[in-house]
Amino acid sequence: MGATVLLCVTGSIAAYKAADLASKLAQAGHEVTALMTEAARQLVSPNTFLNLTGRRVYTDLWDPHGQTEHIALTDRADLVIVAPATANTLAKIAHGLGDDMVSTTLLAVRSPVLVCPAMNTRMWAHPVVQRNLAAVRALPGYHVLEPGAGHLACGHVGPGRLPEPADILSAAEALLGARPAPEPPPATFLELVVYDAAPSAEAQERERAYRADLLRAGSLVSTGSLGERRRAHVHRARSLDEALERARRSPLAGSGCRIEVFPWALDLP
Ligand SMILES: Cc1cc2nc3c(=O)[nH]c(=O)nc-3n(C[C@H](O)[C@H](O)[C@H](O)COP(=O)(O)O)c2cc1C
Repeated sequence: MGATVLLCVTGSIAAYKAADLASKLAQAGHEVTALMTEAARQLVSPNTFLNLTGRRVYTDLWDPHGQTEHIALTDRADLVIVAPATANTLAKIAHGLGDDMVSTTLLAVRSPVLVCPAMNTRMWAHPVVQRNLAAVRALPGYHVLEPGAGHLACGHVGPGRLPEPADILSAAEALLGARPAPEPPPATFLELVVYDAAPSAEAQERERAYRADLLRAGSLVSTGSLGERRRAHVHRARSLDEALERARRSPLAGSGCRIEVFPWALDLP
């Protein structure tokens, strides 16, 4: 089953490989949303990720619509991948800094995080980088995929190479495979509204629109007090027969009463 993956791209020369990773993740059926640091954007265009994922690329914490996207994105994420992860971003994660879209989003994460460092061999060997790496590894839910050794873009040979996108994909799928089984689908129930008199058409329309909004936002729980109807009673039932039986037993049942039945697909409390 396709997962929701956030791909955080930071300013390593290996950022171009993240484009291949985005493509492989999308081809594997995952919904991929890319987030980029300013340094990453110096190396690869956000348009590359936009076209490979078909989704908006997040680069700016200060959304023009004033929305807290860094929270909304993490609400839905099954996995966050930081690839490539620079020494700078490792340090930010280790110390809890949040001064841009990527680092702030990482502070709000509740899914597993796969960190794939890539840097020059001497940077990788630096004690402070290794200390930060140990701190990142110790964070709950964080997994580090060690860089490979080989010929680096800076001309040095040694450890620091971003693992191949196919290997990052395998590590990501292993983490996704370990996630808990999805929640069972919610039980369908009927919501029954009994009015002691018909509400105005305008009030009904407003109520319908409001219910639709709540339903879209996934937050419809109880609507007993909505609208301008008088003395409405709200019941919940699992079948139409049960709903009608409840309606008959309602204290408002009688001449002039109005009954509406709404089918919702939500958990019964
Ligand atoms: C051409 C170029 C390549 C770079 N490659 C790397 C790299 O592979 N790894 C790394 O840690 N830093 C690298 N840097 C340095 C980072 O871009 C720099 O530390 C930056 O502040 C990282 O910011 P970010 O973590 O917000 O993306 C590179 C810089 C340049 C100019």
